[in-house]
Amino acid sequence: MKLFIDTANVSEIEEIAKWGVLGGVTTNPSLIVKEGRDFKQVIKEITEIVNGPISAEVISENAEEMIAEGKELYKIHENIVIKVPMTAEGLKAVSEFSKLGIPTNVTLVFSGTQALLAARAGASYVSPFLGRLDDIGQSGLSLVEDIVNIFDIHGIDTEIIAASIRNINHVTDCAKAGAHIATIPYSIFKQMVSHPLTDIGIKKFLDDWKSVN
Ligand code: E4P
Repeated sequence: MKLFIDTANVSEIEEIAKWGVLGGVTTNPSLIVKEGRDFKQVIKEITEIVNGPISAEVISENAEEMIAEGKELYKIHENIVIKVPMTAEGLKAVSEFSKLGIPTNVTLVFSGTQALLAARAGASYVSPFLGRLDDIGQSGLSLVEDIVNIFDIHGIDTEIIAASIRNINHVTDCAKAGAHIATIPYSIFKQMVSHPLTDIGIKKFLDDWKSVN
């Protein structure tokens, strides 16, 4: 499973990129607004840090405008993936982007049938949202498992990005379920890297070393 970061914060991306683990980046309008910076400038800066797929989301609601918006975003860099919401208009846009050879990430996927539609429209990626399903008492992990099974059975090569990741168990579970990618918030990357026994172990090694040196 590849690891993407789910943020529009350039400093966070720079830090995790230095770990050598980052395969790509996803952003969304809420994450962009949180930074209070120019959308296209932020996306451009991200392309200079990470050499991998970088999702930039359209905000239009009809296909024609999504296509125009996506074409402009794609001009920023060849690694840009146009993120499109899972709607009928979104599917029309995805289908057109697919014909143009522009990669897409269909976002806000909450069912296996939505994922199947997105894949058949030509999406490069689908993003099932785990955390938001868990929030309403449904199982985000079951959704990922369903999509992995459906895509496997039917030989669909659209990649599954497990999104709305809220804890490190989500990351482990999605890796075990066979998601191709997990897009992970910065705070969860920080949790993933540490373990109390690692810290205790380092302290013990250094204390022993210092006791005779
Ligand atoms: C995915 O691409 C989205 O940006 C993201 O994972 C949404 O997560 P949230 O439910 O924590 O906002």
